[in-house]
Amino acid sequence: MKPRRYQLSKDATAIATGRGGRGHPWIFREQLSSAASVFRDGDWLRLVDGANQVVGHGIFEAEGAIAIRVVRRGPERPDARWLAAQLQGAIDRRALLAARTDGIRLVQGESDGIPAVVVDRFGDTLVATSYSAGADALARYAAHVLGTAVTGAVTTQFAAVVSRPARRRVASSQPARTLRGTAPAVARFTEDGLPFAVDLDAGQKTGTYLDLRGLRHAVATAPLAGARVLNLFAYSGMLGRAAEAAGATAITQVDVSERALAFAREHHVVDPARHTFVVADVFDWLPALAADAIFDLVIVDPPAMTSRKEQVPAVLAGYRKLYRAAAPHVRPGGVLVAACCTSRIERAVFHRTVRETLGDGFGLERELPPELDHPVGFPQADYLKIGWWRRR
Ligand SMILES: C[S@@+](CC[C@H](N)C(=O)[O-])C[C@H]1O[C@@H](n2cnc3c(N)ncnc32)[C@H](O)[C@@H]1O
Repeated sequence: MKPRRYQLSKDATAIATGRGGRGHPWIFREQLSSAASVFRDGDWLRLVDGANQVVGHGIFEAEGAIAIRVVRRGPERPDARWLAAQLQGAIDRRALLAARTDGIRLVQGESDGIPAVVVDRFGDTLVATSYSAGADALARYAAHVLGTAVTGAVTTQFAAVVSRPARRRVASSQPARTLRGTAPAVARFTEDGLPFAVDLDAGQKTGTYLDLRGLRHAVATAPLAGARVLNLFAYSGMLGRAAEAAGATAITQVDVSERALAFAREHHVVDPARHTFVVADVFDWLPALAADAIFDLVIVDPPAMTSRKEQVPAVLAGYRKLYRAAAPHVRPGGVLVAACCTSRIERAVFHRTVRETLGDGFGLERELPPELDHPVGFPQADYLKIGWWRRR
């Protein structure tokens, strides 16, 4: 597709190019001039500065705060060679994960230099997802290249390659396309020796939460023999499986999604006698929990609950409610895990909120860093925060 020319304002040029060529990958709508009103969702743009020099190429988005995703900086077009180099870099950076797992995010969008494209490997299934209408073809092509031309310790001969186009805001979304093989309804991978399954048909995110690998590892290696665990917002129960591997004997998993918990029961349970599944709204269920229900480990991992900055105060109020309700159910010496998966809540604000709500009775023992396959290439990519708080 031939890119359309768009002249950036001085401010937008400075943002896109940055110092030392390390510009920000997003140009926000408030930085656009009225000339941008002719563009349609998904248009590719050749970005020029005030002196008519090409400073980059980008994808236009018709709605939302992000108006242009800068794909490649400088005058060169993002061509096949450029894409192959970006992909090879992403694969090489993940090599260390090969010894631990075959469930890996191979491409993390902007942070790997390929905006709006995420590619996950689940065993021998590859799933490429686009987050912007204009990046659908880029995601498909990335999947093709990863499936054929780019190699490394974390790639394989993929039996199935699936491409998921972006959700359209202004038109109906395209269906997922299987580019190679037959896409399984359930994909499988192994992580730190534990077998996991992914609901490819109706799963959240790209099917599962690969970014919680570090937390699963922390739980699986914690001294939980005979422990009672409360896994709130459990989704498909992978943290519950990790707790079972660590020896926990009473694992209560709560989620509002009946389908997610049915999947958990089917795929992430070894000894059914150790698990209780509760389909409920945690915000109602937790305050009504009997006072004598005490756990060694309570995991609080709510959904993002925010797509706009103005929602942040209400979300923080929701978090406070959750921690206030969860804290009395942690035994002295036990642990409360507080996770937050939105970049709209800054790291310091999140930890301060947890600290102030839990009070002196809890101390932050450790904070889990982002996973190797979820690099943080710019401030808004720093979305996941996980604190391990011990009750004194
Ligand atoms: C961030 S995900 C949790 C991921 C999970 N910890 C894991 O290990 O895969 C958030 C989960 O919260 C669930 N959820 C959203 N709102 C809820 C609510 N009010 N009550 C219970 N579950 C909720 C969603 O269905 C989703 O599974």
